[in-house]
Amino acid sequence: MEKLAIVILAAGLGKRMKSDLPKVVAKTREKTLILHVLETAGKLLPEKLVVVTGFKRSLVEDEIKKGASQAGVVYENVSIAEQTAQRGTGDAAKAAVPFLQGFSGTVLILYGDVPLLRVDTLQGVLMRHHKDKATVTLLSAHHSNPKSYGRIVRNEKSGQVERIVEAKDCSPQELLIHECNTGICAVDSAFFAPSLESLKSENAQGEYYLTDIVEKAHKEGQIVSSVVADDPLETEGVNTLSDLAQVNQVLLNRSRTALLNSGVMMEDPDSVFIDPLSTVAPGASIGPNVQIRGKCCIESGVVIEGSAYLNNTIVKEGARLKFSVRADEAIIGKNAQIGPFAHLRPGTELSEDVHVGNFVETKKAFLAPGVKASHLTYLGDCKVGARTNIGAGTITCNYDGYKKYETIIGEGVFVGSDTCFVAPVNVGDGATIGAGSVITKNVAKDSLALTRGPLRTKPEWSRMKRELNKKTK
Ligand code: UD1
Ligand code: CA
Repeated sequence: MEKLAIVILAAGLGKRMKSDLPKVVAKTREKTLILHVLETAGKLLPEKLVVVTGFKRSLVEDEIKKGASQAGVVYENVSIAEQTAQRGTGDAAKAAVPFLQGFSGTVLILYGDVPLLRVDTLQGVLMRHHKDKATVTLLSAHHSNPKSYGRIVRNEKSGQVERIVEAKDCSPQELLIHECNTGICAVDSAFFAPSLESLKSENAQGEYYLTDIVEKAHKEGQIVSSVVADDPLETEGVNTLSDLAQVNQVLLNRSRTALLNSGVMMEDPDSVFIDPLSTVAPGASIGPNVQIRGKCCIESGVVIEGSAYLNNTIVKEGARLKFSVRADEAIIGKNAQIGPFAHLRPGTELSEDVHVGNFVETKKAFLAPGVKASHLTYLGDCKVGARTNIGAGTITCNYDGYKKYETIIGEGVFVGSDTCFVAPVNVGDGATIGAGSVITKNVAKDSLALTRGPLRTKPEWSRMKRELNKKTK
């Protein structure tokens, strides 16, 4: 293989983004545009890697410094060139020339605002370039809506690429061409610098277009070769916020496909949102309308029935999240069963085999293995021992209007329905709490605590009341 140098153009303003920031530091759902391109470039192991900066150079440079290792590139191996005024892509490429002194081989140009390109596609361009012994090889793409992309003009008979015309310079006929320039091209280093010197800015935008080197090569009788991208979506350039949204959609689809291919089941992948920082293990199953946000970790065998919102949450092996669960900064233990309609707030830690049922809310709550809180309960600022059963309607009253206090419940405790624990309070192992109790003092191990008033019944009371109100029934 010939030697490879890569030049990334990233000096532009990005006016169409309507932002004060340079466009290449705009962020997709994964990372900034420049880091996407840097990562792809790094994978081709170039001999030289030059990034052309300009508009708010320091912001772009800082981003590269900060993110180089994440992008798999050694920052010290990246040369930062500067284009002092933004006079077009041809002028930007020229700024890279001094950094390529003494280099002989292929110069691959990448645009900092084309983030989705796959390494395989670029390798295809380089292979064609070498195979055809071309001077210039460009990557084109067919777009049903070619927007502001440059159009590829081919010779009608031979099909040879003759030139690239920017949309703003196109004749009405040329605008009908659907084969577009992606900006990506491989150029022979011997042709690179001299061709840039000869560029003129006599065009609709008064800019030096890098794309004009194609016409120059063609007119000189040099070989101009081309590769058509299999998937036009991966060549999408980001010029507007709407382009950015489209790129995010593609990235999201890529993560869904990657999960499906790895063995994660998804009934309706289009309705599943997965943050790039989250992981889902093969063998997990995800139903419709699920959001997995932040840094979640979903282990194997987990079933999420559907309509769940999980943020920074760990769901361990075999746990089942029934319909409609919201969990934020929570840990859900192995084989636990949650929901339907459960709300796990930050600091919730549920151990193995815990059941948290419908209309149960937890916050800063540690539930030891086998604890069951199946219905209508609030457990906040509490620790609950193994196998304890929390009856329906139980509340830990953790707040007195000023401060928060803790409730500690031991192992194997039976908590009757409609119990209030007025914290701070402790309940010993094996205790029983009678239904309807308000527990304001510590309860000793193995005892029964009951605050209910004695039951009174008045025979015939209801009948007499009915008669008094002249009712027959
Ligand atoms: C460019 C191509 C167009 C192609 C499209 C693909 C040219 C003349 N046009 O148009 O044929 O279809 O990309 O996405 O090349 N930049 C600089 N300095 C400058 C101007 C731009 O570094 O003076 C950088 C930008 O930061 C950006 C890239 O070059 O990363 C492309 O610039 P942009 O202005 O977005 O070009 P397009 O109009 O999209
Ligand atoms: Ca662009």
